[in-house]
Amino acid sequence: MKTSARGLIGFFLALAVGFGATAPGPRERLLLDPGWRFHLGNEWSVGQNLSKAGAGIGPASVVFSDATWRRVDLPHDWAVELPFDARADGGHGFKALGEAFPQNSIAWYRRTFELPKTDAGRRLWLEFDGVFRDCTVFVNGWFVGHHESGYSGCRYDITDVADCGGSNVVAVRVDATQTEGWFYEGAGIYRHVWLVKTAPLAFAPDGVFAFSRFKDNVPEGPAEIHVQARLANTRNAPADATVVWTIIAPGGQTLTTARQTARIGAATDVEVEQTARLDAPELWSPESPRLYRVVTTVESDGQTMDRVETPLGIRTIACDAEKGFLLNGRPYVLKGTCNHQDHAGVGTALPDALQSFRIARLKAIGANAYRSAHNAPTPELLEDCDRLGMLVMDENRLLGSDPQHLQWFADQVRRDRNHPSVVIWSLANEEFVVQGTPAGGRVAATMQALVKRLDPTRPATYNAPVGNEFAGINEIIEVRGWSYHIGVENMDAYHAAHPRQPNVGSEQGSTVATRGIYANDPVRGYVSAYDDNATSWSNTAGQWWSFFAPRPWLEGGFVWTGFDYRGEPTPYSWPCINSHFGILDTCGFPKDNFWYYRSWWTSEPVLHLLPHWNWAGREGQEIDVRALSNCEAVELWLNGQSLGRQTMPRNSQLKWRVRYAPGVLAAKGFNGGRVVAETTIETTGAPAGVQLAPDRAAIDANGEDVSVVTVAIADAQGRVVPVAADAIAFELTGPGRILGVGNGDPSCHEPDVVVATAPLRTAPVADWRWKEIADPYAPDLPEEGIEFDDSSWANADANAESGPLGLHKNGVFRARFTVTAEDLASPAIELWFGKIDGDGSVFVNGQRIGSTGDPRGPAIYNVKARLHPGENTVAVALANYGAAAGLNRGARLRFQEEPAPVAWRRSAFNGLAQIIVQSTRDAGAIRLTARADGLQPATITIRSEAAPLRPFVP
Ligand code: GAL
Repeated sequence: MKTSARGLIGFFLALAVGFGATAPGPRERLLLDPGWRFHLGNEWSVGQNLSKAGAGIGPASVVFSDATWRRVDLPHDWAVELPFDARADGGHGFKALGEAFPQNSIAWYRRTFELPKTDAGRRLWLEFDGVFRDCTVFVNGWFVGHHESGYSGCRYDITDVADCGGSNVVAVRVDATQTEGWFYEGAGIYRHVWLVKTAPLAFAPDGVFAFSRFKDNVPEGPAEIHVQARLANTRNAPADATVVWTIIAPGGQTLTTARQTARIGAATDVEVEQTARLDAPELWSPESPRLYRVVTTVESDGQTMDRVETPLGIRTIACDAEKGFLLNGRPYVLKGTCNHQDHAGVGTALPDALQSFRIARLKAIGANAYRSAHNAPTPELLEDCDRLGMLVMDENRLLGSDPQHLQWFADQVRRDRNHPSVVIWSLANEEFVVQGTPAGGRVAATMQALVKRLDPTRPATYNAPVGNEFAGINEIIEVRGWSYHIGVENMDAYHAAHPRQPNVGSEQGSTVATRGIYANDPVRGYVSAYDDNATSWSNTAGQWWSFFAPRPWLEGGFVWTGFDYRGEPTPYSWPCINSHFGILDTCGFPKDNFWYYRSWWTSEPVLHLLPHWNWAGREGQEIDVRALSNCEAVELWLNGQSLGRQTMPRNSQLKWRVRYAPGVLAAKGFNGGRVVAETTIETTGAPAGVQLAPDRAAIDANGEDVSVVTVAIADAQGRVVPVAADAIAFELTGPGRILGVGNGDPSCHEPDVVVATAPLRTAPVADWRWKEIADPYAPDLPEEGIEFDDSSWANADANAESGPLGLHKNGVFRARFTVTAEDLASPAIELWFGKIDGDGSVFVNGQRIGSTGDPRGPAIYNVKARLHPGENTVAVALANYGAAAGLNRGARLRFQEEPAPVAWRRSAFNGLAQIIVQSTRDAGAIRLTARADGLQPATITIRSEAAPLRPFVP
C-alpha cells in the first residue's frame, strides 16, 4: 500500500540559528571502489545456477579463487586498454571489442569484504552508478540482479544474503558485447560502487526531493520550498515517524525547518510532503552558483533512523516561445556543448577530479550549458555543474515506453532531479525510424508524462534531426529540440507554423577540425582547424551561431561537441580513431574554434591568431591567416609591418593572405579606437626541452584525486613548438600512479594505458590415482588425508575429456606434488582444474578447500596458505550423477610472478601531450619526470597532501 500524507503549509522560519544543523543518522554510504580483482574473458558461461539457489558458477561462487586476477580500483574501463584493430567498429573507436572479439568482450570483477556483526538488522544495499554493460551481480554465490543498461545505475538490497560478522564476495559479470550507442562507450564498472547501510525504517533510495517555487515563476519575494520524502519501512510492524527537513544556507547557517509526521504500515512505503518559506533567498545561476542544502531526517521511537543531505539551488526556469530560455525570470542564452563521457588516458572511467577539470575547461570556452549526450550523466558530473555553475540538459539513452525503459528513465530522473544545474530533460536523441510516426509520438508522450509526474519543475525536449516537420514526437514535445537544420526554411518556417512551442538548438555546429593542423589530410586522417569544414548535415561554428544569435526565440544551443571523443572519426576513417567535432581535443587542449566561441560567448576582449607561424620551406608563399576576436577592429603586423586593419563583423572572423616569412605575427584588437587586446605568434626554434605543467600542484592523498599534467615540447626560449612530435618517456616516484596518457591526436594508435601484467608460471599436478568409494560426502574420509597409501589404486588420466566414474558411482582421486620454499614465496598460488566432472569436495593436505563447482568451466582454488615446502597431497572426492565423470582437462599449480615493470610513454602531437597522475592514500611528494631523446628533461613535484578519506569499504 502506498499512501500520501500532505501536511499543513506550516514551517518554521528561523533566523540564522547556528551551524551544522543535525546530528548524523545511522545511514552509512561507503565507497566500494578500491581493491577489486579483474579478469578479462569468460570461461564460465553466465555464472548463474538456475537449478540451485546460492550456487553461483565459476567466479560467482564463493570458493572460486581470484588470487591471480589483476587488482584494479574503480572506476575502470577495460576498453581503453584494448588494442586498436581495423576490423573493429569505427563508430566505437576501432577498439578490439564487440561481437567479432568475444575474448575481449566479457569480463569479471570480484571484491571481498568483511561486514561487522553489528550490521545484522540493518538494510544493506549495493549501488552501481554505471556499468557498461549488461551486468549480472552475485553476492556470496547468490544471484542478486541483472542490469542491461550501460548508463542508468542499479542497486540491490543484499540484506538477506549478506554475512554480517563474516566475509562477503561480490562477483560481477560484465558483458560489453552489445553496444547502446554509435560512439565509444567503454567497458566495465566505469563509475563508482557503494555499499549503503540503513536502518529498516529509512528513506527510499533517491527518495528525497526538494525544489523551490516563486509566485508567477518570477524570483522576487519569498521562495516556497517544496520538500518531499519517501519513507520505506521494511519491518513487519507499522511505525510512527516524523520527518524533519532543515534548510541550510550557502554560508552554512540553518535557516528553517519543516516537519511532517506519518504512520507507515508494515513492509510498505509512504510519501510525505511539506513546504517551507525562505525570504530573500540567494539565487543559483552559472555565474553565481549559490547552493543551499536540505538535511532530511526521520525519527521514530525517539531515535533518528535516517539522515540524507541533498543540494538545493533556488532559481526559476522557463522556456518561452518568444523570449527563449529564461533563468531567474530573464532571457538567458544557452551557450552549450554536447559531450560524451570520454577523456584521453582513461576512457569512460573518469575520476571525479577529472570531471571537474572538464567542466572548468568548458567554462573557459564561455559555455554555460552541458548536454549529457546521449545518456544519463555520472552523478559527480552533476555535482560539479551545481558547484561550478553549468546548466545541464540531462538526456536519456533509450526511447521506449515498455516497463524496462520507463524504469531506467524514472531512476535517472529521481536520481538527478535535486540538482539545480539540471534545467531540462531530453527524452532521447535522433530516433530516425520512429520520430515521425504516431507510435513514436505516443511513446514520447508517455515518457514525457512520466517525467512530469516525477519532476513538475522542468521542461522536456527531444533532439529531432528534422527541419520544418511536426508529425510524431515534435507534436507532443514541450520544447522543440533542433538537431542541425538551421535556415529560414526550417527554423523560421517551423516557428511561424507553431508559434507557441519553444525551441532549443539541442545539437548544433559542428566544425570538424584537428588541433594544430591547417590542411586537410585524408591519408593521416586530419582536418584543418580553420572554421571551414563541416559534415553534410552540420554547420561550422560561424554558420550556426550567426543564425542563432539574432533570434531570441531560439533558446541558444549545444555545440556538437565540447570535447573530441573516441569513435565516429568523421569525416575520415581508419587510421583515424576518434572524432574531430570538439572545440577541445580529447585531452581538453583548445582548437582554434575555442577562441571563436570565447569571442562571441563572453564579453571580455578576445584576440587569437591562426595558424601557427612555423612554415619552414614555405617562405614567400601565401598563408591563410585569421583572427578570432570580438573586438570591433583588428590590425595585423608581420615582423613590424602592418598588413592592415579590418572591421570585425559580429559573430564572424577576419582573414588575411600573408606571404610567409619567419618571425613575429602580431595583432591588436580595437574597441572605440582603443587597443583592448594584443597577441603574437612567433616562429619557434627546434625542440630543445620538455615542459611539465600540472593543472594542480597539490592534490588530496585520498587515492582518488588527480593532477592533469600538460606536457609540452619547447624550443630553447621555452616557446611550445607547434609541430613537435617527440616521443616522451615518463617516470613517476613517490605516492602516486599514472592513470593514463594522451595527446589529442585523432589518429594515434599508441596505448593510453600501460597495464602491468603479472605472468603465471604453471606446474602440472600429475600421476593421479583413483579408487571407487561408498560415500564421498562422509566426514573425515581417510582417503582424503595426507598419509594414505594409494599405491594400489588405479591410474587416472586427468588430461582426458571424461573420467572413469560411471553413473551413480563415487570415487576419490589423489595426487602428490612438491613445492619449494621459493615457489611458496609467490604472491599467489592456485590449484587449477580444467574440469571437475561430478559433485563433491577438494582437499589439500587433508583440509577441505571447497566444493567442486560447475563442470562447464575450470575450477580454481587459492591454496597458498595450505601448502608447505616439500611433498603435498591433493584429493578430490566425487559423486557422479551423470555420464562418465572424473578429473578432466588437466590439473596444475599456478604461481604468480612479479609483474614486469611498465614503461609509460607518449608522443607529443603538435607540441603537446597529457599525463594524468593519481594520488594514493599516502601523503608525500610525487615526482614526475619526462624525457625525450636529445631534449632537456623536465621534473615536477606534485604534493599529495593528507586529506580526509571518504568513508570506504576496507
Ligand atoms: C548526430 C548525432 C551525434 C553524432 C553526430 C555526428 O546526428 O546525434 O551522436 O553522431 O551526429 O555528427
